[in-house]
Amino acid sequence: MNSKKQIVEALAKVLPAEITAEQITKLIEKPKTSDLGDYAFPTFILAKTMHKAPNMIAEELVGQMDQTGFEKIVNTGAYINFFLDKAAFSDAILKEVLKEQDNYGNQNEGSGNVPIDMSSPNIAKPMSMGHLRSTVIGNSIAKILTKLGYSPIKINHLGDWGTQFGKLIVGYKMWGSKEDVEKDPINNLLKYYVRFHKEAEEKPELDDEARAWFKKMEDGDKEALALWTWFRSLSLSEFQKIYTRLGVEFDSFNGEAFYNDKMDAVIDTLEEKNLLKESQGAEIVDLSDLDLSPALIKKTDGATLYITRDLAAAIYRKNTYNFVKSLYVVGSEQSEHFKKLKAVLKMMGYDWSDDIHHIEFGLITNGGKKLSTRKGRVILLENVLNDAVDLAKKQIEEKNPDLKDKDQVAESVGVGAVVFHDLKNERRDSFDFNLEEVVRFEGETGPYVQYTNARALSILRKAGDVDFDGDLTLADPEAWDTLKMIQEFPEILSRAGRIYEPSVIAKYALKLAKSFNQYYAHSKILTEDDGRVARLALVKSVTIVLQISLALLGVKAPEEM
Ligand code: ARG
Repeated sequence: MNSKKQIVEALAKVLPAEITAEQITKLIEKPKTSDLGDYAFPTFILAKTMHKAPNMIAEELVGQMDQTGFEKIVNTGAYINFFLDKAAFSDAILKEVLKEQDNYGNQNEGSGNVPIDMSSPNIAKPMSMGHLRSTVIGNSIAKILTKLGYSPIKINHLGDWGTQFGKLIVGYKMWGSKEDVEKDPINNLLKYYVRFHKEAEEKPELDDEARAWFKKMEDGDKEALALWTWFRSLSLSEFQKIYTRLGVEFDSFNGEAFYNDKMDAVIDTLEEKNLLKESQGAEIVDLSDLDLSPALIKKTDGATLYITRDLAAAIYRKNTYNFVKSLYVVGSEQSEHFKKLKAVLKMMGYDWSDDIHHIEFGLITNGGKKLSTRKGRVILLENVLNDAVDLAKKQIEEKNPDLKDKDQVAESVGVGAVVFHDLKNERRDSFDFNLEEVVRFEGETGPYVQYTNARALSILRKAGDVDFDGDLTLADPEAWDTLKMIQEFPEILSRAGRIYEPSVIAKYALKLAKSFNQYYAHSKILTEDDGRVARLALVKSVTIVLQISLALLGVKAPEEM
């Protein structure tokens, strides 16, 4: 069922042979208003080859075209306007969706392993809104790529190594206690961390102490490693609570520490290829030819760095997964880091570095201000989710006080609202977070899409058993917009995957929900006999496509709300 293909074929028969089907496909437009048809083809580019005015060309071509399979083909000025045969179109698309169900839109666009580096919070710090973005964007991209034929591998590259652990150990030893940490691990660890930074401003010797503790960690000191292991496992179980609420699972938790024994090999290769240079006692790779600052591989004291671990991780992933591409869902502020990472890999002779893509995203701000762990200006993700769920619950109490499983539905709606809000924005854009706006049941929100789906499901419940086997021709002009959107879904999905952009799906879901609500307002779906089965098939198809879309975003679809 591909109406665009049908148009390309009709055009190819009358256009000069040197214009390829691919070129034709690219030129086809969607008219602004439906009175100009479903698709239009501009003839301007033909003027040169055909030596005629575009509107004459349009008129002439229309005269030559075979109109079977279309309601009509006409010319308007320089455009050829195509009106699809609504009866045939509706029957075909509804049958296809009902047959494919959850598999509707599945494609074989590609195959092979695609590691996705996502979430990757830092141990001993609360998971921030930025890590939420990485988590939900990564999760959604994984689902989209799966539907397109790829095999994603979700990797949580935990920030579980680095000088911050030295700081934490110093802070813990000075101000902490076992009991406090056990009572409220993340908050107390964060407290030591924030206090460390405040006090280190006056007492820089604290920084030296912290460096020394991290060095001990790298040298395998027992006490240092025991504290580290303890902080790590406490943090991880806190993070796990959030992942469970978000419904996100990982294939690997190999964080930075995992690469400790894999960096020597990287440094050896860098040396062999003569890429390491000494600079003020440190080892660097000079990237000035590429207009990038040097990649700092080893500090003066021998300690390795973030990028050293990322080099080891990139190579490990290639060797382990033999990926077709390797994605890193990390904020835009690290774009320089990923440029350097790719550049150094390339210099090492790894041409597959071209398959590495930094899937960057913007900041979530609070009142326009950047959030910062060091300054203690954090929004705790857990609180955000709890507040969202409370707000959802309040609205459910008002709208549907008798609903069963109110708490569970409120959880799906509240958490879903936060996730949806994050994904509906193009990932590179920064946006402000305002809870009231996020959890509204009307407007461009997740709850609006969920609510539309629940309402459509309730129509189907009222309809009882319906046999969809017969003719599903739906001639209602009000249904046309919704039908066409359903048919566009596979194209939307493939676009979302090509540009790694879940917002394409979120925006589509909003549009489809809106279009369906309009249809619902203007049509007697249940009460009129004539065409009832086809109308219900449309309702059913809408629920299928809305549910696929929500699932692709990692948002639940409650049956009632
Ligand atoms: N832990 C880092 C942070 O919070 C993100 C890690 C991203 N992944 C990577 N392979 N560098 O900033």
